[in-house]
Amino acid sequence: MNKRVKKTAKRAAKPPVKHGAKPSAGSVGRMGRALASTAAFAAGVARETEGMIRDLASNVASPALDVAAPRATDLLVHQHRTLEKLFERLESSKKGLDATLRELADELSAHIAIEEKLFYPAVRKLKPDLILEGLEEHAMGRFALQRLLGTKASDESLQARLKALKELMTNHHHEEERELFTVVRRAMPNKQLEKLGAAMKRLFDAEMQRGHEAVLATFDDQLNRPVRASSAQRSRPKTSKKPSQRSAAA
Ligand SMILES: [Fe+2]
Ligand SMILES: [Fe+2]
Repeated sequence: MNKRVKKTAKRAAKPPVKHGAKPSAGSVGRMGRALASTAAFAAGVARETEGMIRDLASNVASPALDVAAPRATDLLVHQHRTLEKLFERLESSKKGLDATLRELADELSAHIAIEEKLFYPAVRKLKPDLILEGLEEHAMGRFALQRLLGTKASDESLQARLKALKELMTNHHHEEERELFTVVRRAMPNKQLEKLGAAMKRLFDAEMQRGHEAVLATFDDQLNRPVRASSAQRSRPKTSKKPSQRSAAA
């Protein structure tokens, strides 16, 4: 008889537990501990699921915005969805792009401004690498936006530039929501998020009033200064000799 068959036979030989029989103190303790750990596990799963559902609801759908006291992350997600709708309107527009493009430029510039001036500094320590990446993507977004704004309606590159800006910003929005906002919501209490959101909303309204030309002018993107030139200058070897002395030595 192999081991498994022996074990099964032993178990079957044990007398069945009678109803009403008093369980031993040891088995009550074991059962209690098992029940307690099952309950703790279930509570943990419930908490985790609730958090996931909350994140999903805030990220996927445009959340119903509390206009008086929006949480910072909800305000930004709401603006992402508005921008994406504007991109879709522009892509399907048969008429001129002018009015909608200006609206998109105002919204996008004001959105980037409140992230860089208020939101990113407030959450930087939570995900410093993502903040640096976000700043680079904003700079690329501003460049693509300026390029699009300077394109004539008759230019064959107009749709390509619009598509490039849309893809750039949509990917950026989804990355922010998936990787940054989820962490921020877990780390910052609601009261703090609401206080930050209210300040961001005030600045957003002010930036929308100023318009994209004024807002974009406040960023120091140094678009006219090629990166290659400055790094070439830095990498030039130091020498105490004057150019005339160097040629004489050679
Ligand atoms: Fe952003
Ligand atoms: Fe954003």
